Amino acid sequence: MTEFKKAYDAHLEEFQKNAHIKGMEAYQRLYRESLESPDTFWARQADHYLTWYKKWDTVLDYDFSEARIQWFGGGRLNASFNCLDRHLETREEAVAYYWEGDDTARAQAYTYGELYRRVNRFAAALRHKGVKKGDRVIIYLPMIIELPVAMLACARIGAVHSVVFGGFSAEAIANRINDCGAKVVITADGGFRSGKPVALKKNVDEALKKCPAVKTVIVVNHVDSGIFLTPGLEHWWHELIALPGLADEVEPEPMDAEDPLFILYTSGSTGKPKGVVHTHGGYLLYAAMTMEYVFDLHPGDIFWCTADIGWITGHSYILYGALVNGATSVMFEGVPSYPDFDRFWAIVEKYRVNKFYTAPTAIRSLAREGEAHVKKHDLSSLMLLGTVGEPINPEAWRWYHHHIGRDWCPVIDTWWQTETGGHMLTPLPGVAPVKPGSCAFPFFGIDPVIIDDAGEPVKHPDEEGLLCIRKPWPGMARTVFGDHERFISTYFSQAPGMYFTGDAARKDEDGYFWIIGRIDDVINVSGHRLGTAELESALVLHPHVAEAAVVGFPHAIKGQGIYAFVILKTGREPSDALKKELVAQVRREIGPIATIDVVQWAEGLPKTRSGKIMRRILKKIAANKLDELGDTSTIADESVIEKLIKDKVDVSK
Ligand code: WT7
Repeated sequence: MTEFKKAYDAHLEEFQKNAHIKGMEAYQRLYRESLESPDTFWARQADHYLTWYKKWDTVLDYDFSEARIQWFGGGRLNASFNCLDRHLETREEAVAYYWEGDDTARAQAYTYGELYRRVNRFAAALRHKGVKKGDRVIIYLPMIIELPVAMLACARIGAVHSVVFGGFSAEAIANRINDCGAKVVITADGGFRSGKPVALKKNVDEALKKCPAVKTVIVVNHVDSGIFLTPGLEHWWHELIALPGLADEVEPEPMDAEDPLFILYTSGSTGKPKGVVHTHGGYLLYAAMTMEYVFDLHPGDIFWCTADIGWITGHSYILYGALVNGATSVMFEGVPSYPDFDRFWAIVEKYRVNKFYTAPTAIRSLAREGEAHVKKHDLSSLMLLGTVGEPINPEAWRWYHHHIGRDWCPVIDTWWQTETGGHMLTPLPGVAPVKPGSCAFPFFGIDPVIIDDAGEPVKHPDEEGLLCIRKPWPGMARTVFGDHERFISTYFSQAPGMYFTGDAARKDEDGYFWIIGRIDDVINVSGHRLGTAELESALVLHPHVAEAAVVGFPHAIKGQGIYAFVILKTGREPSDALKKELVAQVRREIGPIATIDVVQWAEGLPKTRSGKIMRRILKKIAANKLDELGDTSTIADESVIEKLIKDKVDVSK
């Protein structure tokens, strides 16, 4: 600890000169106020960060037992106005995005003025295609400027966007289109990845076979693939925005603070992904405020969040939080390994990035390639390093802090979720020393508690339990699209009167929080959530599979890997070819992010007498922790376990 301690003290001192929050006392004062007088606190923030057409009547009104949450009720505003219009006077020529292509030769800066013009034009095009307030629009685009433009254009006319990450399959797109009832899909002919074009439109074509309600597809010509579009249904983006008679400017639709801004799908422990709904008012405020405080944003900063906009991290910190603050960001189309493993550092050097936000999995994959890639570049611009998505292991933390952060930059480990809209537990630069692996303290307005199995707050420091949040915060999700019952049962039933996170955690004697991980059947692969139920359903679709059980296991790069136990139907023989088919099947159903690492053929699965699969035991077998199987007395047939252990696949190879 002492080696780090010195470094922290150095950065703390430096940060405190200029930071928004100067020291622990200042943090505690504001934090206390945020919990004791939430109405005054949040009204002040809403006034400070956002421009309203009409101020709210009530700051907060809620009832967790029905999962009814209302922030700034009666207030009216528009997210696109807050991201663009109100910056025009002072920041029209300021860069919103330095876009950097997959190809090192492709780069382009977009000012706030340019973004404003593009968003207005495309909003007019959407209106022309009949898109109205409240309509849902699916966006399936690579990391190109049309992605934020499309999202903001939707927000401008009050349409609700739902971005589907480019790594999801046709099947996943179809499910999302049908779940939210979208009639419009925005996509591109393809994207670039490691120098090669990747088809995207093809997946939409495949999806649309199952989506008869879709009436309009808008296609960006990004890779010049020369595809043909179906007349009437499909339109080129560039042709649509060039239509004569389209307005250059579109008045932003005044939205109720509680109107949905977007839906983002995320996996849960059961069934199909849930459409998490976020709002124009509360979400926008929370994204903006966390962006400014957590990254200690100041004029002149060059911020780079390496996430894809298709995830909540990109929604909140490449798009909404960044733009409300008038920030300048880097937006990167490519991958960390192309043309070589120094790409991230080349970009940091090129744009003089000073605040950098990435995921532990990226850090681990780059650390493995050695320091030579880092040393090629001047990283002296960096002053803050963030991480998100999964617990960061000590080796990765040290590598990041030492090689990228010159033993000086604070590492800001942010814990949050798709459902929380923004950072929840996180160190604030300049407040207190960070501890490697801890996400430190609650953000303003966040009231976390760790509860035991009986639902009581744990009594001792370091006691593990379930992480819950006692009070609402503006950025929290309001419902699961089309299924409010599921919203209640998933988040507000486990611990009545509180929001249940699904994570286990502990708090140490200094008040620092440490996240242990999901307690539900959700696997975190490279910082992305995958439900075991979804993976299993994808496996049993194969005609030879009788039953499947999927668990996560520790993986050196991905954090968790996917381990599948598969029982074949009688008369079917295991083979390597079949294994490949199964892996391909799941990728087809869910997408390349769901690539199974290990398939173990099984004859039986450990089940309770009531027939429930005992995943706890499967997890230990997959992780090779055979001496930790625990109590197996409730299992219906104990010989199953011996057999599974005997046939275990060695994941260390
Ligand atoms: C789950 C949420 C929020 C953006 C990315 C993931 C895990 C997230 C951390 C962290 C430990 C973390 C949790 C959480 N998680 N950040 N800093 N330390 N665990 O969003 O897909 O909604 O997943 O990711 O388990 O519940 P998501």
